[in-house]
Amino acid sequence: MNLPNSSIVATYLSRTPKSARLAAEAQGIFPSGITHDGRYLKPYGIYVDRARGSRKWDADGHEYADYSGGHGALLLGHNHPAVTEAVRRQIERGTHFGACHELEVRWGEWVQKLVPSAERVRFTSSGTEATMLAMRLARASTGRTKVMHFMGHFHGWHDHVAFGVSSHFDGTPTPGVLAGVAHSIVMAPPGDAAETRRLMERHAADLAAVIVEPTGASWGQVPLPQDFLPALRQMTAKHGVVLIFDEVISGFRCAPGGAQQVFAIRPDLTTLAKIIAGGLPGGAIVGRADIMEGLSFPEGKPQREKISHHGTFNANPLSAAAGIAALEIVGTTDACDRASRYAAQLRDALNEVLREEGVGWIAYGSFSGFHILMNPPADATPEKINAGAYGFETFKTGRDPVLINLLRLGMLNEGVDLFSWPGGPTSAVHTGDDLVRTVEAFRGTLRILKREGHIGATRRAPVGA
Ligand SMILES: Cc1ncc(COP(=O)(O)O)c(C=O)c1O
Repeated sequence: MNLPNSSIVATYLSRTPKSARLAAEAQGIFPSGITHDGRYLKPYGIYVDRARGSRKWDADGHEYADYSGGHGALLLGHNHPAVTEAVRRQIERGTHFGACHELEVRWGEWVQKLVPSAERVRFTSSGTEATMLAMRLARASTGRTKVMHFMGHFHGWHDHVAFGVSSHFDGTPTPGVLAGVAHSIVMAPPGDAAETRRLMERHAADLAAVIVEPTGASWGQVPLPQDFLPALRQMTAKHGVVLIFDEVISGFRCAPGGAQQVFAIRPDLTTLAKIIAGGLPGGAIVGRADIMEGLSFPEGKPQREKISHHGTFNANPLSAAAGIAALEIVGTTDACDRASRYAAQLRDALNEVLREEGVGWIAYGSFSGFHILMNPPADATPEKINAGAYGFETFKTGRDPVLINLLRLGMLNEGVDLFSWPGGPTSAVHTGDDLVRTVEAFRGTLRILKREGHIGATRRAPVGA
């Protein structure tokens, strides 16, 4: 990606010499100098030195209101005192016992208590591992081979889900993924109950599972119509297909019991990560006892072959300590609601700025997330978008990566770190000061983008005009 001439880039370069030096070193170590595709930013991303609450500080000493939130893991903000104390206490007692320990029992109890469908729990080290294991469990329990994946929905990076997220919507494999693996996935348009039903009937004999992000693709960027999940529950039950809710993002965020609690739908399996481990690495798969039974040793049932699952860091004591502390707060306070309330205020405030500045973008989202759509359809409003009125193509194609990059750099110059789509998760500890800082940063950046001609006359009427 080539960035255009802009004062935004010049300001960024002059503000961040230490980040620039570290990025130059990283180029010789990591592909593209980064350790996660989501951290790709030109000319380079900020190097963060420390964080607290809703804020973080870069290597050059600049302070940022943070909307990357530990990639969504930090509903309680950075270094919540209870989580930090739990980890400190545990680190002195040992970081890995290679054995069962009480904390994993207490952690599993919290998961069971909060997540309505969690009859049984198996910890993993990440969300990717959880979705991979969910698919294996579904195949083993049904004796079928295929899994339905909605276009644009993100379920981690393993082979079965490494296409159809931001490209290859036709189900062809991305480089390195076997065609045979890709053939085992049925790609479906999200939110289209009639087409989903048609595909399910066509593949029913082979279809082991359907996996879905219940708040919509990629952290809710592509909202689903309200009647879609109930229809999906009904048709999967009818055809004996395992319904997997991927609640890696929505779990413990939409509500203590995740999206399944809010929408009152009981999936067969649920994948979890991020908030579950309080900001440390961790994940889990939970669900129906009869399906999860496939993981247990077949004592007295020699005809059943066990589903293999190892993992050096499963239920790691440090993650368990952090997870227990975090889930206790999620389960006993209004943390989820606070984060959602802040996000709603922020979305409204950003739309107000867009209206005042005459820019035809839209801020939208649900629960504790916000997204900025830079190329909305002419008739779009936040309400229509949130109601699932537009197909995934509106959100996943036709984006302008250069403009997104410029917006993010401009916001960084003003002390705000947006996540890459652009938008972000909010936390229970974002404050009124964060809101003011973010709104002013947005206004200032929009004005530069307009003045320098990177965004011109509005392509659509500003929201509410
Ligand atoms: C919905 C969803 N599923 C799965 C994953 C993968 O989780 P992890 O990054 O822990 O492997 C993510 C990560 O963002 C996610 O948002």
